[in-house]
Amino acid sequence: MRRRDLLRSALALPGVWLAKRLPGQTSPAAAGGEAICFPKGFLWGASTSAYQIEGAVRADGRGESIWDRFSHTPGVTKNGATGDIACDSYHRYRDDVALLRALNLSAYRFSIAWPRIQPSGQGAPNQKGLDYYRRLVDALLKAGIQPLPTLYHWDIPLALIEAGGWPNRDTAGRFTDYAAIMGRTLGDRVKHWAIFNEPKAATHYGYLPQHTEPCGNDALKHLRASHTINLAQGQAFAALKSMATAIQASSVFDLSPMFPATDSEADRAAAERFHRFQNLWYIKPALEGRYPEGVVPAERLPELLGFRDGDERLMRAELDYIGINYYSRYFVHHAPLANGVPGLDVRPVWGARDAKERTDFGWEVYPQGLYEIIATMHRETGGKHVLHVTENGAAYNNPPHADGRIRDLKKIDFLRAHLGALARATGDGYPVRSYYCWSLLDNFEWLQGYTQRFGLVYVDFENGQKRTIKESGRWYARVAGTNQLI
Ligand code: FCB
Repeated sequence: MRRRDLLRSALALPGVWLAKRLPGQTSPAAAGGEAICFPKGFLWGASTSAYQIEGAVRADGRGESIWDRFSHTPGVTKNGATGDIACDSYHRYRDDVALLRALNLSAYRFSIAWPRIQPSGQGAPNQKGLDYYRRLVDALLKAGIQPLPTLYHWDIPLALIEAGGWPNRDTAGRFTDYAAIMGRTLGDRVKHWAIFNEPKAATHYGYLPQHTEPCGNDALKHLRASHTINLAQGQAFAALKSMATAIQASSVFDLSPMFPATDSEADRAAAERFHRFQNLWYIKPALEGRYPEGVVPAERLPELLGFRDGDERLMRAELDYIGINYYSRYFVHHAPLANGVPGLDVRPVWGARDAKERTDFGWEVYPQGLYEIIATMHRETGGKHVLHVTENGAAYNNPPHADGRIRDLKKIDFLRAHLGALARATGDGYPVRSYYCWSLLDNFEWLQGYTQRFGLVYVDFENGQKRTIKESGRWYARVAGTNQLI
């Protein structure tokens, strides 16, 4: 089953978006052949994550992560794929920095593998792991590329899973120690940080101790995991900020516009509940010290989340930006669940059933959703935060032609349409400061293994991980180089 299908059926929630034109702002010129300019200083980037690209899983003292264990479990990933070698970026990071330059990019979002830093999830750091990320950051800075490290992109050390994983509240303390180590190591040269990648994904299906039905089969564990992550986010934020005043930190969230599956009152209410759960569950605790209303009733938070007095302060973090990972939208049904967790009685469906366009992964292409979610998050966070689009992209699996070129023209259409929506958002005054395409490289796409190619750069996994910039990469490089959508 597809990762997102799993997720989408695991629990559920909606996105109700309200586009709001800000006073006195006009839309950019409509396409019609005219170039659309992005704001001055707009950052163009690409994103990756450690387990998906690094390989070298046993190098230099790296410990085992949940994803090592999980991907080696028979029958879990497509064709039994693992991240053992992946793109071998651990050894080829210099080539990858050169590719970022060739693509005219000014920013790179990558993640730090916690098990390289603390192989068993606690205790003194592994110097070789620290050295690797220092080398990578220095290579980026030398190339004039702004690093955006993510502290956690789902690869929790296995030892911590064995100690209870995210549902165990102590994991928040372990994570905070790790965040402090990284802040101490890189805080002098890295200004922008992402704490969690898609905390919702990490809890719904990301920590995967029992695989196949990641969390759909244990909604209570999932709720506790979500609370530990909120505690960890607040405390890691404080730890990072204490390292240097210039540090800007937040998390990047998987956010989607939510639509009721039908016009019924029940589905509308379900869409709103799912919106609060999917889109706000890890943001409101940071910004307001409380969970969004209308999902889990306040009086049941201690029982269902393990919420204790004082947690409202531990979760708090004046996030410096909101990181938006956007791929598509949900349609939400009201659906009472057997587990009876109040507020989660929803069944979200990923994308429209009658979608006009789909990526090769089968995901609905819904570019307008990028505008919608930007508008929604701006409204939901009180208009006070700058926004970064920290992931957006698509898998199109075109093989190389005889001449070696990868003509992934549908990917260009995808990017053009999404960047058009983004340009409308910046033109309407929404404070979006950057766009990171997922992904720099074709890579290990979780349960899909190497079958879904999200890269701007083709990776030949059969032939020494050879990299070739795709046509979409060339196109994106022109946008990045001119700061214009042509
Ligand atoms: C996002 C993940 C990223 C990648 C893309 C396709 O949800 O953060 O690792 O799998 O989806």
